[in-house]
Amino acid sequence: DTLHRFPLMKIRGIPLMEHIAQNWSSIWAFRPDPSDLLISTYPKAGTTWTQEIVDLLLNNGDPDVSKRAPIPVRIPFLEIFSPPPIPSGLDLLKDMDPPRVIKTHLPIQLVPEGFWENKCKVIYVARNAKDNLVSYYHFDRMNQTQPEPGPWDGYIRKFMKGDLGWGSWYDHVKGYWKERERRNILYLFYEDMKENPRQEIIRIMKYLDLSLSDDIIDRIVQLTSFKAMKDNPMANYSFMPKPVFDQSISPFMRKGEVGDWANHFSPEQAKVFDEDYTRQMEGVDIPFRSNI
Ligand code: PPS
Repeated sequence: DTLHRFPLMKIRGIPLMEHIAQNWSSIWAFRPDPSDLLISTYPKAGTTWTQEIVDLLLNNGDPDVSKRAPIPVRIPFLEIFSPPPIPSGLDLLKDMDPPRVIKTHLPIQLVPEGFWENKCKVIYVARNAKDNLVSYYHFDRMNQTQPEPGPWDGYIRKFMKGDLGWGSWYDHVKGYWKERERRNILYLFYEDMKENPRQEIIRIMKYLDLSLSDDIIDRIVQLTSFKAMKDNPMANYSFMPKPVFDQSISPFMRKGEVGDWANHFSPEQAKVFDEDYTRQMEGVDIPFRSNI
């Protein structure tokens, strides 16, 4: 039986889904090509959105190209050993020629060293903590391979302690932030992408050394809107069978908004969270907006 909620198992102190931890040596041994591009995020920070933007940029905004296959087939998820129908990230990558685009949620210290040795380009997307937490909570309710989220109040505490899959949000965003200049990481924010998608798409385009026409950029803005992606069967994860992603519990393309945390946190919960946030983020100048 391949379908169950995987418990978490620590690798170098980071809780990962058991099947990732059990396959860790093959994940760590992955050797990228220097032309490969990595898209890295804490889960639910805007990964799929960024994947779709990058795929369209690399394919001249051609809508047929972006609908050619489910997003985790076009852009494999490095560490996941998915239940059917999506093959594991490593199996997909074996059969793809570089340059490839690869998705990961690994914190920076667990990214296979070949990415740094080969000076691969890396796009990191960060999302403000409370919205990221809310999105992860609903995802854990519907993804039947993730650990049970449990009650909402306890979930907030797990997030604060870093007891969720892929570990601490705080350490994740700080780890990439500290290294962004030295390792040439393009560090983006979900909130900027919402506020000015065209501007952020152009930043990604320039980072990829591409130069597309204004018309094509406009088309990419349209094709990667929340509505367009929610309606795109190759982006909205409707290709995942219901026993794996039960989207009747919560859709993968859920709300796609900034500030939805205010519909979930009580004032008391927000106060406790914000006090802890200030402690955990002390001395770090990451320009998050809509934090508090
Ligand atoms: S995953 O499973 O980690 O890859 O999930 P990820 O794609 O990082 O995060 C899913 C959240 O991103 C929202 N989303 C978008 N928002 C705005 N515009 C677009 N185009 C878009 N695509 C995905 C998605 O709705 C999830 O956020 P919430 O807040 O739950 O709606």
